[in-house]
Amino acid sequence: MALLLLKARMALELPAINKALDTLLQELPAPTQPAAKHTVKAGGKRLRPLLCLLCARILGAKADEGLYRLACTLEMLHAATLMHDDVIDNAALRRGTPAVHTVYGNTEAILAGDALLSYANACVARYGNPRLCEVFARATAETAAGEILELHAMHNPDLEVHEYLAIIRGKTACLIRAACEMGALYAGADERRVAALGAYGEALGMAFQMVDDALDVADEATIGKPTGGDLREGKLTPPLQLYRTMLSEAEKADFNAKFATGAFTDEEVASICQRIRVLGLDDQVRNMAQGYLDEGRAAIRALPESGELDVLLEILTYVRDRKK
Ligand code: IPE
Ligand code: IPE
Ligand code: MG
Ligand code: MG
Repeated sequence: MALLLLKARMALELPAINKALDTLLQELPAPTQPAAKHTVKAGGKRLRPLLCLLCARILGAKADEGLYRLACTLEMLHAATLMHDDVIDNAALRRGTPAVHTVYGNTEAILAGDALLSYANACVARYGNPRLCEVFARATAETAAGEILELHAMHNPDLEVHEYLAIIRGKTACLIRAACEMGALYAGADERRVAALGAYGEALGMAFQMVDDALDVADEATIGKPTGGDLREGKLTPPLQLYRTMLSEAEKADFNAKFATGAFTDEEVASICQRIRVLGLDDQVRNMAQGYLDEGRAAIRALPESGELDVLLEILTYVRDRKK
């Protein structure tokens, strides 16, 4: 599928999103700006602000400055989670550039992330709508909870599927759900529609993270993040689970021991990632994500037809097939 509507809409919205983000970054306390700008301006797909914009427009909101600023609070929170995540994961590369903590140190990266997410909360508060504040703050808390669940699950080769699903719902899907709900709330939608768009966002977010986990074995130059990070970090994601089930008993024992202690060499990480790609296990994971994408499609079935709704539908396909 060519995703023409999504590409055209993204090309249209990206300059306005980036302009609003620039303004917001300039409003941060001066000492927090360099590290915050490092991550925010390094690029990124801007998926969360786009979702917020689309969900608001579907329900009739005007594309005014207030809407773009609100949409960008989601990117600010997202960027803050990335800054923190790269410290937690000790990841070297983000958005194709050195991760913020490798340039500014862990402490400054964490504090600048705090400033970003707190200022984003302040911006949301200005709309005078307690539901907006609640949804935003809850998403922040749920993201942190997901990251903690993941921390507790680290290096566990016997992680169960329901535990994995709880992790990704928290660390990724909740924020994507919030992006959609906040767009709907900005448009003054009733709770039924807020819930419908929220359900779409949550299902999309689950699929988005599963595909992120499939992409983890892809080429670093394409994804802008280190290849095999999950294996190195001890995260038993679906492609690694599939890989593990294909091993002989002896190989599995060796895998488990190295996974439990984080003892894989760079060569082993590279070779496991390559085997996953050759065996097509990453594509199997994309197919596993399809169930969530179908759920997302069903959630927005009853919404009024519009160009924006068509883009939301294309995003489902985009998430399954995305290459970065
Ligand atoms: C990365 O998110 C973190 C995950 C939740 C998987 P994105 O893949 O949306 O990262 P950017 O914003 O495009 O850099
Ligand atoms: C993404 O988890 C979740 C958050 C950033 C909160 P990952 O650790 O899989 O994200 P990447 O792969 O580093 O982007
Ligand atoms: Mg990470
Ligand atoms: Mg990842």
